[in-house]
Order: sequence, then structure tokens, then C-alpha cells
Amino acid sequence: MTTPLWTQEETIAATGGKAEGARWAASGVSIDSRTLQPGDLFVAISGENSDGHVFVESAFAKGAAAAIVSKPTDKMRAAGPLVIVADTLAALNALGRAARRRARAGIVAVTGSVGKTGTKEALHFVLSEQGATHASAASYNNLWGVPLSLARMPADTRFGIFEVGMNHPGEITPLSKLVEPFVALITTVEAVHLAFFNSVEEIADAKAEIFDGLQEGGVAILNRDNPHYARLRARAEARGAARIISFGAHADADARLDKVALNESCSCVSATICGQKVTYKLAVPGRHIAMNSLAVLACVQALDADLALAALAMAQLKAPKGRGERHVVSAPLGDFTVIDESYNANPASMRAALAALGQSSPAGSGRRIAVMGDMLELGDDSIAMHRELAGDIAAAGIGLVFACGPHMRELFKALPTTVQGGYAETSDVLAPLLRDAIRPGDVVMVKGSLGSRMGPLVEMLLGMGDDDGASLRRNRGA
Ligand SMILES: Nc1ncnc2c1ncn2[C@@H]1O[C@H](COP(=O)(O)OP(=O)(O)O)[C@@H](O)[C@H]1O
Ligand SMILES: [Mg+2]
Repeated sequence: MTTPLWTQEETIAATGGKAEGARWAASGVSIDSRTLQPGDLFVAISGENSDGHVFVESAFAKGAAAAIVSKPTDKMRAAGPLVIVADTLAALNALGRAARRRARAGIVAVTGSVGKTGTKEALHFVLSEQGATHASAASYNNLWGVPLSLARMPADTRFGIFEVGMNHPGEITPLSKLVEPFVALITTVEAVHLAFFNSVEEIADAKAEIFDGLQEGGVAILNRDNPHYARLRARAEARGAARIISFGAHADADARLDKVALNESCSCVSATICGQKVTYKLAVPGRHIAMNSLAVLACVQALDADLALAALAMAQLKAPKGRGERHVVSAPLGDFTVIDESYNANPASMRAALAALGQSSPAGSGRRIAVMGDMLELGDDSIAMHRELAGDIAAAGIGLVFACGPHMRELFKALPTTVQGGYAETSDVLAPLLRDAIRPGDVVMVKGSLGSRMGPLVEMLLGMGDDDGASLRRNRGA
């Protein structure tokens, strides 16, 4: 093994646990035996649905180096070395804290109503070529995801990027104090999770908790175009931010968009980042991604990394899974395009995705098709928030809408009949309607909340490339 991530001694020192069994060193940390890699330290966390203690033996069978447990049994002892603690989640936090303390990295915390993962991934990508960069996996942004991501950070990391999320007020404060960011970035504040909040101002305040753990001399990066900018700025200042970098199209933004050309598969951006002019190609389309890219470059600047190199790297950026990935489906009688936005949806990201679909140019007799599933957790105004998308659909020149779910039904009914492609209560019932409507040249964007199960529709569309093209033949010129 190269330098271990955690030795037995370091783990004991960090957690105050009691070691049992042979000496060990671990190359990773895992809380899920299904994805555990050989050499990982397994931490038996009790979740909502299961208790990690049940999986300790299977973790060892998969090659775990050791396990942190609070309820040891003789079977566990026989399976491998243990670290016995009173509370395993507290132990994971202790490991995260120890990782934070030993790192001399530039640490970034990314939060916001939308765009956290995409921005985190973009930072990971552009900084990786400038130094050892560690970032949270997937959307590991909650009370176990953040300490786990910290605990996985190698000691010699130069840049550490952590996603921090919340559903309720008060959740970000302890996570921010654990991460102790040098740079705290809020992508944007939007009406998301309104079911758990009384107002968007309350959401802004909850996001501003990201400054509670800001390092001394730290930097806040804020969206200048967002209506809550002044509120967030005041909070950052009150928390002692030494520097505030604003980003956006606003004339006063420190990382300012000067010009953007939105193309079907990329954007060309001219910007001024803290006085430095940069022009770059951004390989993920959509105005929202261009705005996020300004925040990324502001962050690069705050970290004293190379701005020009980072801007160049934007030409190789890829959309994270289910957040705007493009696929050309080659069916025997013609190609059509699928934009996979199935990962999740709320009004802000739905609008952004519709606008990006509006930038596409369908070939031949193809159309822009939006396949939309319910946006969940929006609270009392949910129906109105669904209906309001009718304006965005018209503005983006969308030719056909397929909708599923009781809330989308209300939007569907509000659309001109010529645009009504089909409606069904659930995505599996919608699937054959959509399949039968596809023509060569179409550009089909699929989006909805995770709970709306839009993923299978993307699978179905991608699968059309494998069949004999019968459905395309049927619809040709229809
Ligand atoms: N600035 C933005 N404004 C609106 N939508 C955005 C923005 N940034 C990203 N999105 C969209 O929001 C959705 C979620 O993106 P993601 O990066 O996973 O955010 P999060 O991690 O905050 O959930 C995607 O559809 C993405 O394209
Ligand atoms: Mg995320």
C-alpha cells in the first residue's frame, strides 16, 4: 500500500476507541458494505432503514481492513480487527475532523438550492490538473455524507471540495463547522424544499449557515444576480468573511459575465474574473451552467490557483449523470437526441433545462420535446408552480410536452392542445405514448423529481437505438 489513509493508531487517536485484533491500516473509508472496496475501514452507521452492524461480517468478507462498531459480537471479532466506540456516527465525525485538521489543503464548501453537485464536480475537474484534489462523491452532502467525505480526504490533498446540503434550518451549521472552509460558495437561492420552510428568505438564511464554520481570513462567493444577494452578503460579513467575491451578469459582479453565446452543445463565455479577462468554451450547454462556471472561476481565483488553466479545462467539462447528459440515439431510420435530466427537478432547474432545450436545433422534421414529471416537496403552492412553467415552455419553442404525475397534469391542462403530447399518472404508463411519438431529428429532454421515476423513460429512449427502428419507421413524417 502507498501511504495509508488511516492507520490503526491514527484512528484510535481520532475516535478515542478501543482497538481489538491485529494491527491494520486502511486505504479508504466506507459506510456501505455493498460498495466497499478492499482495504477500506468500515464504519457501522445506524441509518433510517438499516443498522450497519448487520453488515460488519460481509464488509470483512469483501476485504475491509477493520471496522468501527459500537455493538461488537464474537462473530465480528472473529471476522477482523475492530475499533470499539460508544457512537459510530460520532466516530465518523471525529475521523472527518481529524482529516480536516491534518490537511493543509485549500478547502471549499459548496451549497445552494441547485447546482451544488455540478459546481462541485466542475471544481474537482478543473483543479485536478493543478494539484491533488479531493471531492465529495455523488451528492454526499448530509450529516453522514459530509463527515464521510472529509474522512476520505488524503493528508496530502491540495484542494478539498465538499458539497453541503440541507432540508431544514440548522442542518448546515454543524457541517460547516466540521468542514471549516476557506472558501464558502452559495450557487443560488431558490424556492426549493418550500414544504419545510415558510419563505425563500428562510431558505437564504439556512444556506448562509455555510459561513458559520468559515476559516479566519476566509472567502464567501455569492450570486450577484440572486434577489437574496444583500441578505447573504450581510450574513457573510457578520461571520467575518475577509473577502466577498460576487459572480453573475450584474454590472457590479466581481466575476462578471461579459458575453455568452449559448449553443446547442456548448457555450462560449467571455468574463472578467476579479479584473482578469478570460474567454473560454464551456462544454456543458445552458445559461445556468455558464453562471455556475463563473462561480467556479471565482473559487479558483480565491484559492490562488491558475485561472487561465482552469478556464481552458472548461472545454472538457462533462455534465454529471442525469443533469443534462446528451445522447444521440442512432435508430436505423434516423437519429434523435436525448437530454437526460432525470436526476431531479425543482422549478429553478426545470426552467433552466427548458431554456437549454430551447437552444437545441432539431434536425429535419424533428421537434423539441419536454418530458416532465412532478416536482415534489414544493408545499402549498405546488400546483401554481407547475402551471407557471407554461410560459417557459412557450418561450423555449417546445413543440410537444409529455407529462406525468398529478401536479404536472395541471400544467398539461394549461397548455395549448397542439403542444399536448400525452399525459399519464405514472412514468411507466407514459412510456409507450412517448415511444410512439418519437421521430428522427427530435430533441427529447426528460426531467422530474427523483420520486417521479423519470429515469426509466430515459432508459427506454436510449434502448430505441437497439431495436429494429420499428417505432421510428411508424412515426416517420407522421
Ligand atoms: N444555477 C442553476 N440554476 C438553475 N438550475 C441549475 C443551476 N445549476 C444547476 N442546475 C440544475 O439543477 C439540477 C440539479 O443540479 P445539481 O448540480 O445536482 O444540484 P444539487 O446538487 O444542488 O441538487 C440539474 O438539473 C442542473 O442542471
Ligand atoms: Mg447534489
